[in-house]
Amino acid sequence: MDGKGGERSAQSDLGEVREERKCSERLQQVQTPIIPVVARLIREHPGTISLGQGVVSYPPPREAIERITEFLADADNHKYKPVQGIPALVAALREKLARENAITAESASIFVTAGGNLAFTNALLAIADPGDEVILQTPYYFNHEMAITMASCKPVLVPTDARYQLQPDLIARAMTSRTKAVVTISPNNPSGAVYPKEALCAVNEMCRARGIYHIHDEAYEYFTYGGAQHFSPGSLEGAGEHTISLYSLSKAYGFASWRVGYMVVPPHLIEAVNKIQDTILICAPVISQYAALGALVAGRAYCAERLKTIAKNREIVLNELSQIGNKCEVPPADGAFYFLLRLRTQLDSMTVVERLIREYRVALIPGSTFGLESQDGMCHVRLAYGALTPESVKEGLSRVVAGLRKVLES
Ligand SMILES: Cc1ncc(COP(=O)(O)O)c(C=O)c1O
Repeated sequence: MDGKGGERSAQSDLGEVREERKCSERLQQVQTPIIPVVARLIREHPGTISLGQGVVSYPPPREAIERITEFLADADNHKYKPVQGIPALVAALREKLARENAITAESASIFVTAGGNLAFTNALLAIADPGDEVILQTPYYFNHEMAITMASCKPVLVPTDARYQLQPDLIARAMTSRTKAVVTISPNNPSGAVYPKEALCAVNEMCRARGIYHIHDEAYEYFTYGGAQHFSPGSLEGAGEHTISLYSLSKAYGFASWRVGYMVVPPHLIEAVNKIQDTILICAPVISQYAALGALVAGRAYCAERLKTIAKNREIVLNELSQIGNKCEVPPADGAFYFLLRLRTQLDSMTVVERLIREYRVALIPGSTFGLESQDGMCHVRLAYGALTPESVKEGLSRVVAGLRKVLES
């Protein structure tokens, strides 16, 4: 068979008609990532203000950037480094986890990953076989649902309540003999809900009793408002054997492009995660790990200082949204930097998003991508306010208010 046109000659050699080459059946089941779709619409409509992607407006701390010189000073740093992460960073994370999350983990249980998304994939591949079930809460974080489908597992969707809070009874009822894990995210993307300690304890205890895992994503741990408390279920007595805790530097340290996250895994999963990460990544980019070390020196206070501006913007957003009227409900959201609006309309969420971009030059994310179907005269859109500046918040929100008023009339 020659190189070019190999497909055609293969057909005639075998005397049968083969279908065109295409991606795996598995990947055909995976939803198309929404962020690039919305980004294209934004590019096609210059001047659009994005309240779409979940990023912050601020850059990494000075301490992070200063570490780059140190990285460059040692030629050995251009070689591969340990799968788990550079020892100095793992040690700093271990200390942070003990101090801030009350999680006592052996160093070997901590893996530095290329972002929280990879931490989730590592966790999934370590615990689930094809056909296994993983319980997600709807609305879900789309990359979690996509990873589960990509791993040939089945996302089992359990609805949250009208305030986007966990419903432990429904989670318990959704468990079957094939369930491998329950996934929770708090503070939540896309809803902004912060789950109370009691609800997370209930889920964690349920997972312990059923012999399954609790995967808990804490990417937004520093982003809470009005006294809402963040809680790490991995800190519970005995939770270390069945809890996988996921973290990210992307949001807290304005670090999204540096790709640094980390995970804490039960000791019996260390070898499995080691195999997966060695294959997929080898090690997180070492230059980014140096920067992460600097970011941890700046610490939580760096984010806390910037959170003051985000919190002010959040108040402005809430205030402006209240002017839209009863066709736009804003369920309580005391964390992350999202509001997941419930809209009374016959339109589907993608149509609403497209119209807002085309006609009002402002971008949101459709609820359909988080597993919320448009039905019963209702759809959802997510508004992200982490990247807004004091200047853009007023203009962005005036467009959302004007746009939604008009679009919801139709
Ligand atoms: C809940 C949640 N987990 C993980 C991530 C991915 O973070 P990272 O950039 O660390 O991969 C995001 C990003 O939006 C997120 O919202």
